Amino acid sequence: MKLSATTLTASLLVSVIAILLAIPMMLQWERPPMDTTQEGFRGLGMEQVTNPRLAERLKAANLLPTPDDPVPNDGVLVKDDKETYKNVQVLGDLDTAQFVRLMAAISVWVAPQEGDNASCAYCHNTDNMASDEKYTKVVARRMLQMTRAINTQYKPHVAETGVTCYTCHRGQPVPANIWSTNPGMKQAGGFAASRDGQNLAHQPIPAYASLPYDPFTPLLSKPGETIRVVATTALPGGTGADVKKTETTYALMMHMSTALGVNCTFCHNTRQFANWQQSRPQRVTAWHGIELVRDVNANYLGSLTDVFPANRKGPMGDVMKVDCATCHNGVNKPLYGFSMAKSYPELSVPNP
Ligand code: HEC
Ligand code: HEC
Ligand code: HEC
Ligand code: HEC
Repeated sequence: MKLSATTLTASLLVSVIAILLAIPMMLQWERPPMDTTQEGFRGLGMEQVTNPRLAERLKAANLLPTPDDPVPNDGVLVKDDKETYKNVQVLGDLDTAQFVRLMAAISVWVAPQEGDNASCAYCHNTDNMASDEKYTKVVARRMLQMTRAINTQYKPHVAETGVTCYTCHRGQPVPANIWSTNPGMKQAGGFAASRDGQNLAHQPIPAYASLPYDPFTPLLSKPGETIRVVATTALPGGTGADVKKTETTYALMMHMSTALGVNCTFCHNTRQFANWQQSRPQRVTAWHGIELVRDVNANYLGSLTDVFPANRKGPMGDVMKVDCATCHNGVNKPLYGFSMAKSYPELSVPNP
């Protein structure tokens, strides 16, 4: 059969359109050359592959505000000045000068800087500072307790670097990277095949992979869920994990890698993912990070379910929660390891 001119032109047109359609997709790819850094022993391939062209963008997303200058103490504790401070439940042990300095700092870290509810007014009725009528103040009080718990109970994760409100909020009332239970895509009824929680490779959470799109609800919302899936016995039985559970673990691992801007080999020796002896120490830090996130989500954010208004919650009515990216924002140590918490020691003491 001879190809007619029209068929030729038609197929040419189809190819051109296909190439044109592919261009925007290609813009999402990262072009070589990449940098590689050796992290493990030679020959193990435990190296980090990074894109030097993304470094500037990452830096811009992780800028720091200048910490306020220290102020001398007034010599009066908040709890001893009942005239001025009528409803202080968490910060009573602070010197009044440090209290005022901290209020000014959280106004910059969390509250909007313009509009009717800017600065102090974001949490306070400025005619009656003691009032708890704004939900934001009630949330902020719990956040103060949460930040102190992170800095005192999770040292195996946050070390001496610690966190402040800014680590998550970055000058915004709502942190950039948060999640709530994902109700999934609309599904045809009847005999249509169910996607059973699998991603259609368009949602960012499992790094656009075709893995479960919500590994967080099962693995990051409460303490005690098992992530381990690799068999520990020759015959089936060991961890009891099926394919679905394994995919959920992999989806979480994809998130952890993306959130920190690292490869799997930042934590694992990929010849044996499960083996702790062959892993890097960072994997242990990450393990404590998982515990931290679960505690924060279940016991701090979870306790605010009735406080948040509906428009601040997810489509399933649960509160917005944290994952690894909330603090890390694409780098292995939040804010490149700079410690803002050192300038605000009152955020690193145990709760009363
Ligand atoms: C992000 C929320 C938030 C912002 C913004 C904020 N505060 Fe507060 N403020 C609180 C919380 C929470 C408490 C209660 C702390 C506690 O219970 O330990 C409080 C308590 C106070 C109190 C004690 C009132 C009383 O009588 O009990 C004063 C005074 C105060 N803040 C002043 C300020 C000033 C001034 C600003 C602006 C520079 C400000 N706050 C900005 C959350 C906030
Ligand atoms: C580990 C991360 C993290 C830290 C640290 C943190 N927050 Fe939050 N904060 C969140 C998340 C997540 C939410 C929920 C956002 C939502 O539901 O829209 C939130 C919500 C809030 C809100 C409600 C905002 C709104 O408009 O609804 C306030 C106020 C707030 N935080 C204050 C603080 C203060 C003050 C601190 C420091 C003492 C702090 N946060 C530390 C993660 C954090
Ligand atoms: C930031 C550190 C970190 C990174 C990066 C990371 N992991 Fe993990 N991984 C862990 C930790 C911690 C556990 C153990 C969790 C537990 O035991 O509760 C784990 C567990 C696993 C397990 C289960 C092991 C078992 O005992 O059954 C597999 C499989 C796995 N990771 C694969 C991967 C893959 C694939 C990647 C890259 C896409 C990756 N991990 C990236 C820290 C990491
Ligand atoms: C509340 C904020 C916060 C959250 C949420 C958080 N981290 Fe971290 N993480 C930190 C801080 C702060 C450090 C820096 C500690 C230091 O200076 O050694 C850190 C350090 C690490 C390190 C060590 C990096 C290195 O270069 O040695 C790993 C690995 C890590 N985090 C993994 C995770 C994982 C995985 C998650 C989610 C399960 C997570 N983190 C969630 C605050 C957080």
